[in-house]
Amino acid sequence: MALGLATGSTQESLYAQLVRLIRQRSIDVSKLTTFNLDEYIGLGEWHRQSYRYYMHEHLFKHLPLSRQRLHVPDGLADNPEKACQAYSEAIRAAGGLDFQLLGIGSNGHIGFNEPYTPFSSRTHTVALSDQTRLDNGRFFSAHSEVPTHAMTLGIQDILEAREIMLLATGRHKADTMAQLYHGDANEALPASALKHHHNVTIVMDREAASGL
Ligand code: GLP
Repeated sequence: MALGLATGSTQESLYAQLVRLIRQRSIDVSKLTTFNLDEYIGLGEWHRQSYRYYMHEHLFKHLPLSRQRLHVPDGLADNPEKACQAYSEAIRAAGGLDFQLLGIGSNGHIGFNEPYTPFSSRTHTVALSDQTRLDNGRFFSAHSEVPTHAMTLGIQDILEAREIMLLATGRHKADTMAQLYHGDANEALPASALKHHHNVTIVMDREAASGL
């Protein structure tokens, strides 16, 4: 089984519950393969704001997972473009993603696919938008420390997952969720690519759903 995983504050309680459930039911996770969506360029696995570190803290260190099966794009790769290409290929070699977990940025990004990323995109490097750097700046001690670039699974890679679940919480996501619900698929709102997928579940709290 290959799981596509996401980071962000929205996923934290999900991972806590998942850890509890896996332990309670003694589920064997030793054969589980995971691929994370994205990573900041320039941050290594022991940088506290890297997504690799986030995954270690919230999920990986709590479960008897096999380290070679856990994949996060390498933010320190010498050649990020090549590393991105290899990442998409590794997903295909693993048989594709059975399930992709997603959050959503306040500008509608999924992974780090910012507005106007082609829906046909593969894993790629991206210059983060000002909005995303502002939103994510809350985790860094200074705005200047927020990386300017990232690596992300492409929208096409995401759409190839056999099942997708997107989680959204908080009033600050309400306008975006309303646009997603009422509008058509449009590259201005990356998450709207999910309208082209046949097996998507969207879970929202009352605040995120308050504009529907
Ligand atoms: C980052 C990640 C996204 C995530 C988003 C939302 O930008 N790259 O994958 O969906 O944050 O994060 P939060 O759940 O903290 O709102």
